[in-house]
Amino acid sequence: MINQKPRIVKRIKKNFKINEIYNTIINSDALETMKKIPSNSVNLILTSPSYEVGKEYEKGHSFEEYLNFHEKIIIEAKRILKDNGAIYWNVAQTPKNGEIIPLGAVFYNIFKKHDFHLKNWIIWRFDGGLNCKKRLSGRYENVLWFVKDTNNFIFNVDDVRIAPKWKNDKRNNPKGKNPTDFWEFSENNCIWEINRVVNVSKEKTKHPCQFPEKLVERVIKGSSNEGDVVLDMFNGSGTTCKVAYELKRNFIGIDKEMKYCKIALDRVKKSVNHNGLSNNNHRQKKD
Ligand SMILES: C[S@@+](CC[C@H](N)C(=O)[O-])C[C@H]1O[C@@H](n2cnc3c(N)ncnc32)[C@H](O)[C@@H]1O
Repeated sequence: MINQKPRIVKRIKKNFKINEIYNTIINSDALETMKKIPSNSVNLILTSPSYEVGKEYEKGHSFEEYLNFHEKIIIEAKRILKDNGAIYWNVAQTPKNGEIIPLGAVFYNIFKKHDFHLKNWIIWRFDGGLNCKKRLSGRYENVLWFVKDTNNFIFNVDDVRIAPKWKNDKRNNPKGKNPTDFWEFSENNCIWEINRVVNVSKEKTKHPCQFPEKLVERVIKGSSNEGDVVLDMFNGSGTTCKVAYELKRNFIGIDKEMKYCKIALDRVKKSVNHNGLSNNNHRQKKD
């Protein structure tokens, strides 16, 4: 029996079929949980690990331990992704001891060490945010898009095309233009760490650093198909789950904090109502 109803579970057993945890938010440690997920079972991973900037969920380890832990996560990601699978890894620049650590560059080396291939280094810009006194204020983050196989990966460019800048240019592709690797979203969608926007954004939950839904939508449409499995192992408020569900993908979210899992489940359930989708609308793939 396939369970498609969105739910939270505390842990998963070993030796299960991937479709048994479709549309499930797992309230547990990311690494321990990923170790139980079958090999070659996930189409797409979109996630944002912690940035080591002192958030409530980031305490109690050195930077070296932080990197070791995430290297193990990347090894598991390689194992559980399908051969044509992809991982999008969102990070920012972390201030440490008066300087900036470009986490994207640090993680690039770890992904390369484990034989991932970089397709794009996406920059996404936002407005608002903290105003720095001793350096220029940071206004962008990085999403590193890696694939396992450069000859076998999904890129649904027609599903993510955007309106051209010069509408009357005859050279325009009538389907719209490639969205490029520099992404900007309207202010109401840019709620990453932006206190000023928190109160006016319709998307905002109590999680301190949510993905903008538009960013997640572009990634999921571009790198997966309906019925596919999308995983976010640092799930937070569940933006990946919500958008995946709306786009008729099957989601798996993992977060160690129950309060965030509850927010995520609530968002998924509301999105279902809001969009008039029922669980039966989800095309199921047999794995
Ligand atoms: C940057 S936030 C993700 C926010 C998410 N993209 C969203 O849209 O809300 C990182 C999340 O990872 C979770 N986390 C950190 N370490 C974890 C671990 N070892 N296992 C599971 N979750 C973890 C935190 O609780 C936090 O919610």
